[in-house]
Amino acid sequence: MPEAMAHYDDAAVDALSARDLAAAVPDPIVILDARGTVRYANEAAVAAFGRIPQGTVLAHRFRTPDMQRLLAALLKEGRAGAIDYGERVPIERAFRISAMPVGAGGGLFMVHFKDQSETRRIDRMRADFIANASHELRTPLASISGFIETLRGPARNDAKARDSFLEIMQAQTARMARLIDDLLTLSRIEMKPHLPSRDRVDLGETVAGVVDSLGHLAAEYGVAVAFERPAAPVLVSGNRDELIQVFVNLLENACKYGQSGGRVDIAIAPAEAGPVPEVAVTFRDWGPGIAEEHIPRITERFYRIDPETSRVKNGTGLGLAIVKHILTRHDGRLVVRSKPGEGASFIVYLPAA
Ligand SMILES: Nc1ncnc2c1ncn2[C@@H]1O[C@H](COP(=O)(O)OP(=O)(O)OP(=O)(O)O)[C@@H](O)[C@H]1O
Ligand SMILES: [Mg+2]
Repeated sequence: MPEAMAHYDDAAVDALSARDLAAAVPDPIVILDARGTVRYANEAAVAAFGRIPQGTVLAHRFRTPDMQRLLAALLKEGRAGAIDYGERVPIERAFRISAMPVGAGGGLFMVHFKDQSETRRIDRMRADFIANASHELRTPLASISGFIETLRGPARNDAKARDSFLEIMQAQTARMARLIDDLLTLSRIEMKPHLPSRDRVDLGETVAGVVDSLGHLAAEYGVAVAFERPAAPVLVSGNRDELIQVFVNLLENACKYGQSGGRVDIAIAPAEAGPVPEVAVTFRDWGPGIAEEHIPRITERFYRIDPETSRVKNGTGLGLAIVKHILTRHDGRLVVRSKPGEGASFIVYLPAA
């Protein structure tokens, strides 16, 4: 006989009470008698719904029509079933409720609540994400399609218009390509929360390379970048390309959004007093800064303080989300400090190698 089907005669298991079993289950469980009154509620049920005194009619505590039907079918016909149940107060919660007869003797029933709130939250996030991503792609696409129409129609023989429209179309396709690249990076990084392999990376060298490669952008924005490369190597263990991506985005942001300050200061220094030795890389700009209420949100996907400015500056709103994920993979973190009107500091902390 396959083991799963084996029947064990074991006095200890037979002696286990419904109460013992239900108490060990982390989900809320309520045991009812044939009149639908509560005979027992486990600790998880009390934690989720407050005290449910013995004798409470369960149908009075959970009043939705679905729940009434579920309990009626259970108590009158002994029919097991399951429904979705939601509550809005005191907080929004969602449960899958299953009800079934228990025991051989009849007359007792079990109601089991599976908390679905987290699953719902993730579903909603996924839906929001798809809506946001589609919207971001649709905007440039609509513009391209509009220009194609004009080129085939009214501007058919207008060479000058053609050139300028093609230029705009090229910029829009570049924007879409960038968005897709960022989405792919994000999904690649999210799928693998741990770095596959680590090299020793010299932060001084890496940041110097980033400053060089963005020289043209800083000049375009009229921003002077000051970076004094430490004399000795500052080593961390990680993935060089990913760390470059972090620094590129932070320097790009400092130039784009801190443009009015005309200056970006970058510093690499040992971080002060933490449990493990860390290195801090600070990108300090002197632009408008970031109001406190936005700071916790700017690392969210597609979050921008001023969507119009960001769009004009070719931002997708994914940069800091990518930064945050990359740093998490490196056991590091991002700290943002800012006083509106006095610029912003983005500080990357990484464990020292
Ligand atoms: N140094 C800064 N000063 C002020 N606001 C900033 C700064 N850095 C980022 N922000 C704000 O945070 C938002 C999110 O930045 P993030 O890098 O994620 O996106 P983005 O720069 O708009 O797009 P991408 O990085 O994909 O080009 C920006 O749109 C901007 O509103
Ligand atoms: Mg950015």
